[in-house]
Amino acid sequence: MAPSLKRTLLLWLLLPLLAIVPAAAALQYWLVLQPTREAFDQALANSTASVASFVRLDGDAVAFDMNPQAERSLRTDQFDSIYYAVLTPAGQQVAGDPPLREPRLVLAADVVAFFETEIDGVTVRVAARGVACGASVCQVRVGETQVKRQQIFRKSFLGTLAGVFAFALASVATIVLATRQALRPLLRLGEQVGTRSLDDLRPVDAAGLPAEVIGLVDAVNRLFGRVRAGSLAQQAFLADAAHQLRTPLASLKNEAELALAAPHPSSMQGALERLNAGASRAARLSSQLLALARSDASAQAGMFTEALDLKAIATEAAAEWVPLALAAGLDLGFELESAPLAGRRFLLREMLANLLHNAVEHAGPGAHVTVRTRRERQTLVLEVEDDGPGIPEPERSSAFDRFYRGHEAAGVGSGLGLAIVRDIAAGHGASVTIVDPPAGRGVILRVSFAEGAGR
Ligand SMILES: Nc1ncnc2c1ncn2[C@@H]1O[C@H](COP(=O)(O)OP(=O)(O)OP(=O)(O)O)[C@@H](O)[C@H]1O
Ligand SMILES: [Mg+2]
Repeated sequence: MAPSLKRTLLLWLLLPLLAIVPAAAALQYWLVLQPTREAFDQALANSTASVASFVRLDGDAVAFDMNPQAERSLRTDQFDSIYYAVLTPAGQQVAGDPPLREPRLVLAADVVAFFETEIDGVTVRVAARGVACGASVCQVRVGETQVKRQQIFRKSFLGTLAGVFAFALASVATIVLATRQALRPLLRLGEQVGTRSLDDLRPVDAAGLPAEVIGLVDAVNRLFGRVRAGSLAQQAFLADAAHQLRTPLASLKNEAELALAAPHPSSMQGALERLNAGASRAARLSSQLLALARSDASAQAGMFTEALDLKAIATEAAAEWVPLALAAGLDLGFELESAPLAGRRFLLREMLANLLHNAVEHAGPGAHVTVRTRRERQTLVLEVEDDGPGIPEPERSSAFDRFYRGHEAAGVGSGLGLAIVRDIAAGHGASVTIVDPPAGRGVILRVSFAEGAGR
């Protein structure tokens, strides 16, 4: 499978988030934690200072006379247990709680150190302060359990987690939206090119496309331009060749008819008739090739369109085709309603002529042929129905191919008629369908034009 741009973008934008978000969370947690820890330690250090104010020297002995009120206020705390200890320079405990005596620390006066110890299985954070006792240094220690600290740490952890989660969600949503938004013009471009018919070689509209894609679109448009020029040159050559052939073929046919009409040896009759038929066939083929060159949708793209009515096109055809149908022993009828559209008159005539030619040729003598035009809601319809043998189901998909002739096809055609019909229809934005007549026998060739198309 081809790599998707959207997936690559999402992958490269979202994967780093997986690393960035936890790292940012950890950093933020640490940044919040550090000052909180320092503030708690500072409060503990202040407590050592207030305890130290009760230490004095009584002769050589260290005395400590904190009144009960001060001790109560030191020990009162809603969440934590508070411990304290006063130590002589030799490490003897003068007052307070024995568990705080250890470990032994050497501190200068007014220097504060922190450590952690365990009392009854609970961790206690201790601040130890050096206090001048004459020439040497006593120590005051105050410790507290960690309940308040842990509560605050837990709250800031949850707060950080919620913040980071919200940030991650917002980032993911933004990335998905931004990616979709950035890729939208590309998808539109894909649709624009993907839904085109094979004959549509007009330049791709680059309006609104991101600068990065415009170069590609320009290259594609230049390619379209070259292909279109090549295809037009080919059509022009075909049209020229067919045109050049028409005059000599017409005079060949004339000569053959003159020879047939003039007195001639009966032994030549057969040869002259075959010559005449061959010349007719070649003349028709050359005019079909000419029609094919003109009917190509890309050749039609630049052609001038006129305000027309399918009814008028059919009426004009009646004048030419009624006598021909009569001579061939067919009943040709018309059911015409107005169906105005913008189109190319000579091509629509050519299209109807091919449909009528088929009906006359393939339905054969005794058949009934009906030409209809009408407007059905947003669709303009031109159809030719006959009650001949119809087109067998398996042949319907190939019937519009160039040079395809049915297995039971009558006459000496080349198999170009329906291909011309299809091309002219496509150039007018119309579609051709083969429909079964309600009566069952025969076939309806229906051309449906969307109103407003074909310009
Ligand atoms: N009205 C019809 N009734 C029965 N078969 C048809 C009809 N129209 C077309 N077909 C079948 O479709 C085939 C293709 O038609 P198409 O007009 O392209 O070629 P053609 O009529 O054989 O030759 P050409 O039109 O070049 O003289 C025909 O050979 C025929 O088998
Ligand atoms: Mg035909």
